[in-house]
Amino acid sequence: MDGIVEKIRQIGIVPVVALDDDKQAVPLAKALVEGGLSAIEVTFRTDAAEQAIRRIVEQVPDMLVGAGTVLTTQQADRAIAAGAQFIVSPGFNPSVVRHVLARGICMMPGTATPGEMEQAMELGLKVVKFFPAEQNGGVAKLKALAGPYTNLQWMPTGGIRAENLADYLSFDKVVACGGTWIAKKELIKAENWGEIRHLAEQAVTAMLGFEVSHVGINTDNPQQAEETARILGAMFGFSMTQGNSSIFVDGKNVEIMKRPGLGKNGHIAISTNTLARAIPYFRNRGIAFREETISAKAAYFKDEIAGFAIHLVQK
Ligand code: 3PG
Repeated sequence: MDGIVEKIRQIGIVPVVALDDDKQAVPLAKALVEGGLSAIEVTFRTDAAEQAIRRIVEQVPDMLVGAGTVLTTQQADRAIAAGAQFIVSPGFNPSVVRHVLARGICMMPGTATPGEMEQAMELGLKVVKFFPAEQNGGVAKLKALAGPYTNLQWMPTGGIRAENLADYLSFDKVVACGGTWIAKKELIKAENWGEIRHLAEQAVTAMLGFEVSHVGINTDNPQQAEETARILGAMFGFSMTQGNSSIFVDGKNVEIMKRPGLGKNGHIAISTNTLARAIPYFRNRGIAFREETISAKAAYFKDEIAGFAIHLVQK
């Protein structure tokens, strides 16, 4: 169960979908995976849910498939039989929670109040859905709730869009955000897989928040670094800040290395909102890292680009 939560945390966003036709499940799942999202919550709001889950589990093995809007133990059993790896419900129903946990499956019931959260904890849950998140006070309310419940974590859902996603995900008690904004019902009906893939990419971009952080320039020795920094400073009036292995110029924008660092010419640092999610995101796309460089704060990619080593840094 913990392994499933960790996968959900890495993916960061769980598209919530309702399908009228189970034949749409596989192209939908493929569009989401191509867009960078390998988790899906198929809701029991339609009769197609069970068969849709089965099809995705069988035909899109990269996808982590859960069932949503599970209101009864019978629906939970049907979802699990179809291969669902996690179960989500809009509200807190102790008999459904007990039943799913007894079957050894990850369960995230909806909660909105401290009372419901305490009951969930009493049943042994460490992660619950916060629903509907925006309407219940959003991330500010969640932070207030997290004060007393130090061991609880949340998957907020309801009113989450690309615009407010990063606010939720930047709170470390948020495992992932769920929502219908990526695979909207009309888009599924119209089989507009291209737009769904685009919205998935947009959500991933908002989550990861890549920005160029600084450019690093290699030099052979501290004297050369000093000279390079001095020239840039004299030409543009940039500030210079001495570090142990480099000199930063213009705030933190340019880093002049005192010895040849990684990369033929130097390095480019790209910052991200969430290094822990960015690393699996690139790995899933077949882009490798120099394993020995990975830390909680930074990671270098295996390949250089135009003579520059590229590294990701946590914002
Ligand atoms: C859910 O069931 O989780 C919600 O309907 C999702 O809310 P949203 O439509 O605002 O994303």
